Amino acid sequence: MFETVEMAPPDAILGITEAFNKDPNPAKINLSVGIYKDAAGQTPILASVKEAEARILKTETNKNYKPIEGAPDYNALVQELLFGKGHEALTAKRVATAHTPGGTGALRVVGDYLRKKHATATVWLSDPTWANHEQIFKAAGLNVKTYPYFDAAGNKLALDRMLATLEQAPAGDVVLVHGCCHNPTGIDPTPAQWKSIADALAKRGLVPLLDFAYQGFGTGLREDAAGLMELCRPGAEMFICSSFSKNFGLYNERVGALTVVTKTEAAAQAVLSQVKSCIRANYSNPPAHGSAIVATVLADPALRAQWELEVKGMRDRINGMRKLFVETLAKKGVKKDMTFIIHQKGMFSFSGLTKEQVERLKKEDAIYIVGSGRINVAGMTDKNIETLCTAIARVMA
Ligand code: LMR
Repeated sequence: MFETVEMAPPDAILGITEAFNKDPNPAKINLSVGIYKDAAGQTPILASVKEAEARILKTETNKNYKPIEGAPDYNALVQELLFGKGHEALTAKRVATAHTPGGTGALRVVGDYLRKKHATATVWLSDPTWANHEQIFKAAGLNVKTYPYFDAAGNKLALDRMLATLEQAPAGDVVLVHGCCHNPTGIDPTPAQWKSIADALAKRGLVPLLDFAYQGFGTGLREDAAGLMELCRPGAEMFICSSFSKNFGLYNERVGALTVVTKTEAAAQAVLSQVKSCIRANYSNPPAHGSAIVATVLADPALRAQWELEVKGMRDRINGMRKLFVETLAKKGVKKDMTFIIHQKGMFSFSGLTKEQVERLKKEDAIYIVGSGRINVAGMTDKNIETLCTAIARVMA
């Protein structure tokens, strides 16, 4: 059975870390995968998370299965974090949430659900997008297309081209938009652009799928939900995929959620029942520890305040590194105006480096970044910035 199986290509993002781990160069730098590092180059466990874990260890009494859709308290807290208290969709009970293993798990459950109940729907992805999106929906058996997103010349959103393309999409197709901190470009729509996008999707009968993996890493927890608030108009339908890998630093706990917004409470319950049947046929029910941490932190006012400060701390450090990166590149002799990097949001800088330059950085300097030129700013430190910018200036010369 196995003798003729060929090697699969390495993963576009996680495969780079595999290569990094094998590199014996002691000066190597990994700025590929989106993992936050503090000023000392460590990925810390947040203090609020540590405290929540201590409480959980003391108080948990069993390791029973969770419900297929996860614990009700966790799901309610996820909804409140998304919408804020008292949002019309919540009071109308037209929202249903299932706890999933990470944001990736949520995306795959959406894919499985669409394949089961809306098999002819095409999923539209931004060009460019997170390297894993396409294969998630294709693996679920769906048709995938792209819409323009990035105006490389102006380093801005290509809104007109985006809307012109989506204008051609048939009603019932699903349009994946990044809730904030667009991965990989770091370019988010302005409030006015969100309004145009929401208008266009509503007019065409297209269903938004909000990939919301970086809430709190852009401008603030509520501010980063501006797109969600615009899309979730009275009567609007949508999917939201949350991840707590980044804003809680719970990368290896695999904790996220799929939230579906429907027109009515009855529809929300029906869709949830279908989502549950997809989950049961996949991983049965979700892992408990990560969701217990998130629920403990969000439900306790003091822990929640501490967590919000910690999220702000991560966001501020990343923004500080953006500035330092741009300044150091200029100091190293880069003539091109790189100040656009300061305005990008979230963990990543879409640097404009070509595939060849990325390859040279790996070969000549053991600096690992994603092939698209995406650099994890959250992995830059005072210690590696000089080496990094010297190398980038050289390959850009
Ligand atoms: C990334 O884009 O680097 C992260 O979302 C991690 C991943 O799973 O790819």
